[in-house]
Amino acid sequence: MLPYGKQTIEKDDIEAVVDALQSDWLTTGPLVTTFETTFAQTVGTQQAVSFSSGTAALHAAMHAAGIGAEANEEVIVPAITFVATSNAVLYQNARPVFADVDPDTLLIDPADVARKITPKTKAIVAMDYAGQPCDYEALRALADQHNLVLISDACHSLGAAIGPNRVGSLADFTCFSFHPIKQITSAEGGMVTTNDPLAATTLKEFRNHGITTDHRQRESRQQHQYAMESLGFNYRLTDLQCALGLSQLAKLSRFTRRRNDIARFYRSLLESIPHVNPLQTRAGIEHAHHLFVIRWDQKSAGLSRDQAFEQLRERKIGVNVHYQPVYQHPYYINRFGDQTGSCPIAERVYQEILSLPIFPLMREENVREVVMQLQAITQAKSNPLSKAA
Ligand SMILES: Cc1ncc(COP(=O)(O)O)c(C=O)c1O
Repeated sequence: MLPYGKQTIEKDDIEAVVDALQSDWLTTGPLVTTFETTFAQTVGTQQAVSFSSGTAALHAAMHAAGIGAEANEEVIVPAITFVATSNAVLYQNARPVFADVDPDTLLIDPADVARKITPKTKAIVAMDYAGQPCDYEALRALADQHNLVLISDACHSLGAAIGPNRVGSLADFTCFSFHPIKQITSAEGGMVTTNDPLAATTLKEFRNHGITTDHRQRESRQQHQYAMESLGFNYRLTDLQCALGLSQLAKLSRFTRRRNDIARFYRSLLESIPHVNPLQTRAGIEHAHHLFVIRWDQKSAGLSRDQAFEQLRERKIGVNVHYQPVYQHPYYINRFGDQTGSCPIAERVYQEILSLPIFPLMREENVREVVMQLQAITQAKSNPLSKAA
């Protein structure tokens, strides 16, 4: 099976982890600080605080943004995202309010965000779907107008930029994931970037039980006392993982270039196939291409998206679907009731989207094979012997 995403682990990545294993620090050691400092420089922010996952990073960003300080707060999130974006709002006892997406990009639609702002709204979360930055200019204007915090879920978009401004520097808090299928990996891992040093201190406490110092600081001060000043978690990233993260971060531009080359090649081959329509890219964007998402036109294909999904998988093409509108999941229905109709574009487009394989190690012949199978399944449907018939 050709997977839809896959990590690239090279010899020097393995050596970096082995070196860390042989050092004095396995968990919170000097590589955590080096990874954070290098990451902040890479994305152009003052602060970067590492976490054990992208989900932990989102939870911490919600906390540092002050979400949940009062009862009945609302946070606006896109309807089409991974559940972790919206679950982080729930962890802080606030209510996620879903905004619809643009049908051509699947990015949160600022006009629908504006419609969904109420006196209870505290923050907006933008999610850079597939690796493309949202319209941060419009979202920033809304946030400033209504005194809201702007949080970016950039778990898809490390390496992307709008003009000279890199993802990581476009919101009050930006959250990244280093899960293996992401732009770079630390196995599991995450990061929050911000330009607010006080918020960075809050983030560091939150990942370490709400304790104000870490064990290295106490060691160097020859001190045994510590103070827990808020309720936090163990959301720390280990030195072992930071060794891998640092080694991978050095390759980010190469990985991003390769993803862009693959996306360009897909686009050129797909131009002549009317039932397969790649999402659009906004002007002035440097895309990270975490995913390559197309809209499947059931009418001209004569097959539904789900039939295409099944048949491509039978042909060893590991397509996927990102994502079902979050409020359609049973937990959300049980807790908040049926919200059908609240984001009609997301509901409709969800029936059409398909993520095609894309990862740096993919070869041109793999891309050709995917495109060939995208055509072949529609031709096979008229064959009475085929499964699709
Ligand atoms: C959009 C989005 N948000 C959040 C996450 C959560 O990241 P992690 O898996 O590192 O917890 C992911 C990861 O799959 C994601 O794609």
